[in-house]
Amino acid sequence: MLKKSLRDVDLRNKKVLIRVDFNVPQDDEGNITDDIRIRESTFTIDYALKHEGRIILMSHLGRPKGKVADEFRLTPVAKRLSELLNRPVKKLDDCIGPEVERAVAEMSQGDIILLENLRFYKEEEKNDPGFAKKLAALGDIFVNDAFGTSHRAHASTEGVTHFLPSVAGFLVEKEIEYFERINRNPDKPFVLVLGGAKVSDKIPMIENMLTKVDVILIGGAMAYTFLKQEGINIGASRYEQDVADTAKVILEKARAKGVELLLPVDHVVSDNIDGTGRIKTTKDSTIEEGLMGVDIGPKTIDLFKERLKKAKTIVWNGPMGIFEKDRFGEGTKKIAEAMAASSAVTVVGGGDSAAAAQKFGVQDRLTHISTGGGASLEYLEGRVLPGIAALEDKE
Ligand code: 3PG
Repeated sequence: MLKKSLRDVDLRNKKVLIRVDFNVPQDDEGNITDDIRIRESTFTIDYALKHEGRIILMSHLGRPKGKVADEFRLTPVAKRLSELLNRPVKKLDDCIGPEVERAVAEMSQGDIILLENLRFYKEEEKNDPGFAKKLAALGDIFVNDAFGTSHRAHASTEGVTHFLPSVAGFLVEKEIEYFERINRNPDKPFVLVLGGAKVSDKIPMIENMLTKVDVILIGGAMAYTFLKQEGINIGASRYEQDVADTAKVILEKARAKGVELLLPVDHVVSDNIDGTGRIKTTKDSTIEEGLMGVDIGPKTIDLFKERLKKAKTIVWNGPMGIFEKDRFGEGTKKIAEAMAASSAVTVVGGGDSAAAAQKFGVQDRLTHISTGGGASLEYLEGRVLPGIAALEDKE
């Protein structure tokens, strides 16, 4: 079901309460190291400004667990947003209470306020109705543009929708468009590229996608648990005993459904994972004792590229190796480049793969890089995201 967006409502002279996801990474000095989530929020903010709304932004940052902590304040975010919008952003010291109410009452058209970190209150994550009501009282209309937090039923994502007319922002609208297309109507052949460290995180997603995809390419550390199920020696590579049976079932289901599930046929291996040890390429899928897989090998890269070339839809979730280390990054780089060169619809589920796309400079040549890590994963699992479900449907 399509959701109403801010295009469908009158914003003139309204206090527009916008939930954004400004949960951005920072270095030790508090500098923002990736501002994509802030940049992606500016389309909604600019539109609301142009349509004469007064903008009240709210977000969480990190996991302060219901306590005020200076390192989780949104001050650096307000500064960055102000630079991007080229206008002042007034950051308040709280997100509810008399000071906040006064500042909101004094707003003029075109003003932008950013409330302090919502998670300084434990009521936020508990979806406390009283807290949600206080947030809602600050606005005339609610816009959810926090795709990355839409899988959380929190006071600022789900709770507020019980008290205000609630619509989607442009970022949420764009993310829904791509994920719905993948879930309901993907162009075929549909190739799913999976990697990353843990099989256990991806099981519900693989189960759901098995009914939609034609090919699954598995690299990264998660591949070794699958390889071992196929009777292949994986040496000292990461292995998840507790999901070994599930991995076996997935391999069987893929065969039964006619989904081609490809595992690495060679590897880059090392005796440690910090990039300082001995490193070599195996001649086949077997890994000798004492060595561990850290990247896919050249034959696997060619095999995977071959399948990507024929694809009309590609979804990528998880790197092919420990790409943060340059010596173990070739597999991820080559696969990212193959996706960028493809004419398929290419969608990247946030987190590590988004960081990899950026590192290898292909981000502008992919169709859509999601701003949601957990949220994109849950969408691909076929789950309902409470922050989106709560928004008004389009008539
Ligand atoms: C994210 O970065 O995935 C979102 O901002 C949600 O954060 P959370 O996992 O702390 O709820």
